[in-house]
Amino acid sequence: MTETADMTRVRPTDDDVADGLTPLRAYWHPVVRAEDVGDAPVGVTLLGERVVLVRTAAGVSAFHDLCLHRGAKISMGRIEGPNVVCPYHGFAYDGVSGRCVHIPSQPRDDQHIPSRLRLERYRCEERHGLLWVALDDPIAPLPEFPEAGDAAYRTHYGFSRMWKTSAARYTKNAMDLSHFPFVHAGTLGDPDHPEMHPFAVDRTETGLRYQYEWDFQRPEFTNHYGGPVNYEYEVDLPFTVRIRLVTPNGRTVIFSTACPVTEDRTHLWVLFARDHSFDRPDHEWTDFSIQIWSEDQEVVEEQRPERLPVDLTAEVHLRAPDAAGIAYRGLLRDIGLSHA
Ligand code: FES
Ligand SMILES: [Fe+2]
Repeated sequence: MTETADMTRVRPTDDDVADGLTPLRAYWHPVVRAEDVGDAPVGVTLLGERVVLVRTAAGVSAFHDLCLHRGAKISMGRIEGPNVVCPYHGFAYDGVSGRCVHIPSQPRDDQHIPSRLRLERYRCEERHGLLWVALDDPIAPLPEFPEAGDAAYRTHYGFSRMWKTSAARYTKNAMDLSHFPFVHAGTLGDPDHPEMHPFAVDRTETGLRYQYEWDFQRPEFTNHYGGPVNYEYEVDLPFTVRIRLVTPNGRTVIFSTACPVTEDRTHLWVLFARDHSFDRPDHEWTDFSIQIWSEDQEVVEEQRPERLPVDLTAEVHLRAPDAAGIAYRGLLRDIGLSHA
């Protein structure tokens, strides 16, 4: 077989890339739990683009999920040794470089493989039990989870969900405190005392940091934690939030991160670390958070517009409770997004 015009490398079209989210291509995004990528290729969607994860003995690689012969979906194929094989005509691509190494319809000892037959490769890293992909050269590091490597902490996987909202809407909710007395009445917030005091929001190299103490004013009010909670938030652009809760028991860390699947679909993951209550089962933290996240999901999925406006005149902002949300919108605007 010789190279023909039909084999022109197929590039993603504008339709493949979520409208206006191009700046996000240059960030790491979590796309799948690492243990879910085994001996078969796994297809995911990131920023509207099909991506295939391929695990071979050499590690995990990420490619555009598109065979360059006739545009078949590589993730419908299979792994054979060091290669991933297209489901349509069986072209084999090297699982690391993406270069086509075998065309079955040609004699085995007389292969003519066009050099353009190479899967488009993306950067891929395994971290915190997740696989992270950057579609373009990343301009920010992978989010840290310092407690995950700290012997004083016990770390465990929590859960993942797919939400019908944008990743920025999801993240903004994970950063928000003033909804606690309403959406999480009785567990996180006291509906009879929803007032909040002003708090400072600081810029960091990777995003934002702020802290807030809910000291409950009714002595008879008991929240889930049995007392005041000091919340410390760190946000890494674009969609990772580390929430450190300092409670009477000790410190609990909620690591929330989210993949912008499309402009209005978000795959989120929640991981945990704690330095206390090692005798209690991990699922207590997971189960409680699933309840909290479900309460959030009902409200957030119905927010309009689906994508978070970064223009501050598009919504009404209150200086004290909305300080973090205002700062977050500013960061999104700084990286070139008009809504996210
Ligand atoms: S489309 Fe993949 S081998 Fe033909
Ligand atoms: Fe919430």
